Amino acid sequence: MSIDEHALSSGKIAAITNRLDRPIVLVGMMGVGKSTVGRKLAQILGVPFADADDEIEAAAQHTITEIFDKFGEAYFRDGERRVVARLMEEGPGVIATGGGAFCQGETRQLILDKGIAVWLDSDVDTLVDRVGRKDTRPLLRNGDPREIIARLRAEREPHYSQAHLHVISGPGPHQVTVKRILEALDQWL
Ligand code: S3P
Repeated sequence: MSIDEHALSSGKIAAITNRLDRPIVLVGMMGVGKSTVGRKLAQILGVPFADADDEIEAAAQHTITEIFDKFGEAYFRDGERRVVARLMEEGPGVIATGGGAFCQGETRQLILDKGIAVWLDSDVDTLVDRVGRKDTRPLLRNGDPREIIARLRAEREPHYSQAHLHVISGPGPHQVTVKRILEALDQWL
């Protein structure tokens, strides 16, 4: 299938952008493609994109791994909440969050109150395949990545399922996921 076959008409896309009055916030497991999909989605809609993990690193002047190692996960989650709160005030745009952000009560409430939460969801095989491409995730260091991902996915599902929209991100090209998000937004807005 060519990329064009996944495209929505420019009129439909403009209509979505016009109705957008809040940030679109991508939530879901690490490896699901939130940053890549988010960047493409923002580009198509013509709105700003922000990656919460990048913003946390910039604010802390440390990588995520350094923050976990030097200060611990609780400190990271606190910084994450503050960064997400700031990004939620920046108006319509697309925000990719780290996989655990929406599983923290206060952060989740902020996103649900002020944004459109989109749960990007993949099966364990797809997630394992995708996380294998990057080894910068502190939560995957101490054990078998497949077991950790399967456990976290099961633990986190009750949180993710509170998102306004649920979109499957299959093993195929991210462009397909972008189109599914646009269609879901078109119906929801
Ligand atoms: C985390 C996911 C990471 C990052 C941190 C913790 C998690 O983001 O925020 O390592 O708890 O699932 P990605 O989902 O972008 O990998």
